[in-house]
Amino acid sequence: MKVFVLGASGLIGHAVCEALARRGHTLITLRHQSPLRARGIEEVVEVDGTDLPKLTQAIIELWPDALVNAAAISSPEAVEKNPKLAERLNVALPRQLAQITSHLGTRFIHLSTDMVFDGTPENAPFRSTDLPNPKNLYGQLKLMAEREVLEHNTEDPVVLRLTLTNGNSPGGVRSVHEKLLHAIARGERPTLYSDELRQPCSAENVGDAITELVERRDLHGIFHWAGSETITRYALGQRILQNFSLSPDLIQEGSLADSGEQPREACHLAFTLDPLVGKLKTLPASIERQISELSIPPALRDWYAQARR
Ligand SMILES: NC(=O)c1ccc[n+]([C@@H]2O[C@H](COP(=O)([O-])OP(=O)(O)OC[C@H]3O[C@@H](n4cnc5c(N)ncnc54)[C@H](OP(=O)(O)O)[C@@H]3O)[C@@H](O)[C@H]2O)c1
Repeated sequence: MKVFVLGASGLIGHAVCEALARRGHTLITLRHQSPLRARGIEEVVEVDGTDLPKLTQAIIELWPDALVNAAAISSPEAVEKNPKLAERLNVALPRQLAQITSHLGTRFIHLSTDMVFDGTPENAPFRSTDLPNPKNLYGQLKLMAEREVLEHNTEDPVVLRLTLTNGNSPGGVRSVHEKLLHAIARGERPTLYSDELRQPCSAENVGDAITELVERRDLHGIFHWAGSETITRYALGQRILQNFSLSPDLIQEGSLADSGEQPREACHLAFTLDPLVGKLKTLPASIERQISELSIPPALRDWYAQARR
């Protein structure tokens, strides 16, 4: 299949490209600012994702069989800093992509987030049919995008909600362990919460699941994908440090309830993976598997040589 991937330089888009290439699909990607490092890319379109007329023209000319949208302002902090840009990229772009793919008969996979839910412990784990209730602007915009996608592409869309994602990003700065290690290398001692429960997935595993979804045109609607286990943020941080033989004292344990941050109450963002988990060959990855695949970001190798125990 001819597959157009937006966000190919990002943590998840890169892994999607690698997985699609392994399956022999023809890859077209959009390049924004960061270099594209995935293997097997056959054609690159140079356009900003907020330039909707130019992007629309490019997609119509290329007429892909499938389009995966992994482009976004992907951190809640960046969304708060630039809400107008975030609205254009996280809502207006997917709306337009839904319209064009519907028009062209192109399979459309759009990525969303567990943060469309409020994380209330009594309501977890969250099913794809549960009522969303986002607690921050990032989650609100992602929820708006989900609704736009399903409204404007009624034939062949998938909205795939993902959780906190592990992996090695192409630039070495975007995934959980990369952000953590960069903060430690800057001399910070990050506080991670022991009352924030997540169900992390890995970018590589998500890439395989999305590739199957590209190929499986019988699956439509909103689905959840995550890893096979839940873990607190603090315990995840400790597992990462242990994996790299770094001191456990490099991070400190905190409580979201005492932090003054929103949401203040304990946050439990776990998913029920039915019905997707029974329909794909890809299986959710264990935390051990996810962590064993992590590597030290290239920019931190000198620091790491000094810091490891
Ligand atoms: N990572 C997670 O933990 C996580 C969890 C749940 C859901 N998700 C969702 O998964 C998707 C991918 O997330 P990610 O973590 O892979 O994000 P990421 O690593 O931050 O990558 C974002 C991608 O979007 C591109 N992009 C940003 N601005 C653009 C613009 N104006 N025009 C075109 N492209 C632009 C970036 O390209 P440049 O680098 O060139 O700007 C990059 O390729 C998002 O929808 C996110 O909400 C992520």
